[in-house]
Amino acid sequence: MKIKLITPDARHADDWKQALLAEPAFEVATVVRALRDVNVIVNGSRPDLALVETTTAEDFLAFEALAARHPEVDYVLVGNALTPELLLRAMRVGVREVLEAPTAPADVLATCRRVLRKRAPAAPAAPRQAGQVLAMVSCKGGSGATFIAANLAHLLADGGRRRVALVDMNLQFGDAALFVSSETPQSNVAEVARNIARLDADLLRASMSEVAPGLWVLAAPDDPASAADVQPRHARQILELAREMFDYVIVDTGRSLSAVTLQALDLADRVYAVLQLTLPFIRDGKRLRDVFRSLDYPAHKIQWIVNRHQKNSQFTVEDLRKTLQIAEVITLPNHYEAAAAAVNQGVPVKEIAPTSSIARSLRDLAESIAPPAALPQRGGWFSGFLGNGAAAR
Ligand SMILES: Nc1ncnc2c1ncn2[C@@H]1O[C@H](COP(=O)(O)OP(=O)(O)O)[C@@H](O)[C@H]1O
Ligand SMILES: [Mg+2]
Repeated sequence: MKIKLITPDARHADDWKQALLAEPAFEVATVVRALRDVNVIVNGSRPDLALVETTTAEDFLAFEALAARHPEVDYVLVGNALTPELLLRAMRVGVREVLEAPTAPADVLATCRRVLRKRAPAAPAAPRQAGQVLAMVSCKGGSGATFIAANLAHLLADGGRRRVALVDMNLQFGDAALFVSSETPQSNVAEVARNIARLDADLLRASMSEVAPGLWVLAAPDDPASAADVQPRHARQILELAREMFDYVIVDTGRSLSAVTLQALDLADRVYAVLQLTLPFIRDGKRLRDVFRSLDYPAHKIQWIVNRHQKNSQFTVEDLRKTLQIAEVITLPNHYEAAAAAVNQGVPVKEIAPTSSIARSLRDLAESIAPPAALPQRGGWFSGFLGNGAAAR
């Protein structure tokens, strides 16, 4: 794979090139110049991957133009203070991998290797008993994504008949653990990221709390500043391991599109986008749909959930389907009392108001994901893993 490194910083170019030498499959060329001053990037020796560091707004514009002009090239963008708006623009021109500057050479290597793996023709499907990753995205704060993620995780665990992980990747203001438990979390995503070198099933399991039979929660950090300790590759490693350990991994990505949440979305088997039927939600839903399109997610990967659905709302589900050009929409009814009581007490709605309309709809949603008849067998090694973990504590 031919890689072209473009950065105005000669030291970065050297350090990154050195790191990339570790991979024999890479052929690396460097251009030490700001992107806006580079005339020809894709010429006779067309790179497969361009890793570009942008330090100014002009560079970013040049980058956007380059990526739009040459969609056949894969890109890794390195930048600092990349706002969600800039990230979104990068995603729109097809960029999947973004690294926050200053970037460690090891991260550059890991990211380029990942691009290499993605480019490789798919290996014949090995029989693998991995769990499913379901990501919950909030089109806008307050849509109910965390409420749904937490309740769905609880329902899928079904009293311990399945093993389910609820992972809070809403790193700055995550609150998913509070929706299903009043206990203080054992640890959190940032703490696991800081110990990534030692990450294995035992460490991950010890960092989670079993808040109900079969339901394990990995909380977001308490302190918003800790979010910076979580690199995209950490998020990926955590989720890939969780997928091996659990039948279902429910990820709350919150409403922020970031390099970290992008990993979760990419890895997810299915993405649930949660919104309500009012104009601000629909507007943001449309933006999110555009992002999914530019990421080339197949239509079946995305499911739209209208939460707090009420009859006689100003907009109908039909309006939404037309505006977003989507075939299917799941609706969950508005039930303020049941939802508020559940959230305030940190208890799933099924326990607070088992016969309420919202509890029933959530159960239907869970059953559409995992039909009751098709219960997976508990793997032998998971029981072992539980036993060992418990003994180690
Ligand atoms: N179907 C519903 N009916 C009534 N209230 C709901 C419903 N779903 C969620 N809520 C309420 O909305 C609030 C915000 O939900 P939350 O899951 O935190 O949103 P998000 O994670 O998308 O920001 C919660 O306090 C919850 O009580
Ligand atoms: Mg939330």
